[in-house]
Amino acid sequence: MLDKKPTTIGRMFDRIAFRYDLVNRVLSLCIDQTWRRITVRNLAVEPGDRVLDIATGTGDLALRVLQSEKTCRVVGIDLSQEMLAIASFKSGRRGFSDRSFFVNGDALLLPFHDGVFDKAMVAFGIRNMNNIEAFLDELHRVITVGGRAAILEFSLPSNPPVRRLYLVYLTRILPLVGRFLSGDDGAYRYLTDSVREFSSPSLLREFMRKRGFDLIRSRHLFFGIAHLFILARKQQPTEMI
Ligand SMILES: C[S@@+](CC[C@H](N)C(=O)[O-])C[C@H]1O[C@@H](n2cnc3c(N)ncnc32)[C@H](O)[C@@H]1O
Repeated sequence: MLDKKPTTIGRMFDRIAFRYDLVNRVLSLCIDQTWRRITVRNLAVEPGDRVLDIATGTGDLALRVLQSEKTCRVVGIDLSQEMLAIASFKSGRRGFSDRSFFVNGDALLLPFHDGVFDKAMVAFGIRNMNNIEAFLDELHRVITVGGRAAILEFSLPSNPPVRRLYLVYLTRILPLVGRFLSGDDGAYRYLTDSVREFSSPSLLREFMRKRGFDLIRSRHLFFGIAHLFILARKQQPTEMI
């Protein structure tokens, strides 16, 4: 079992924060940005929306939302101070400081009142959480009834030859390139292991339904290397008169 304690995860991302964006672009050949674009399009942010970006990291998803809808406001939350510092810097450079706010905190104990966000999203973060169901409860709690959430995460392709090929990349090439570019051995080994051991999309769908979400969309991206879920917090059952 991988160590997914918040302090361990936060420190690991602190160590690689400076090189995180570069390594992402190289390892994914920039496809990660296409996935984030698809995620934002499916989230359908509306004017004035309050959006929460959970495990915001260096803020790439948050910035896409701020760019796509000029009157929404975004709060990004993450365990890693160093990742947040970069997110905040990038947001300021793009002129989004007055509509973005970055806070240090744990996705399993979100420091927000119930139902304060119209939309919420998490990209490549849910895999790092040590209790997926507790996280889904928190996600459900902080969005408004009928509000939408997007979850983007790595998955393993189901087609056997593609899966075999991808596993070679994941276990042999990715850790080497990650270590070379970031100077950190453990973080990119952790990436490989966490992708391999993470729950399948079908199990995640099951969890999501059980935790009170309607599943609006569930789709593979790039041969199943990633998966996008679009959820809505269920309307409250109508009271009997
Ligand atoms: C792979 S990065 C993804 C960052 C960003 N969402 C992106 O698309 O590039 C994962 C991020 O999740 C954060 N994270 C992991 N577990 C978390 C938790 N329980 N609460 C808040 N942030 C968490 C890490 O600190 C890290 O910045």
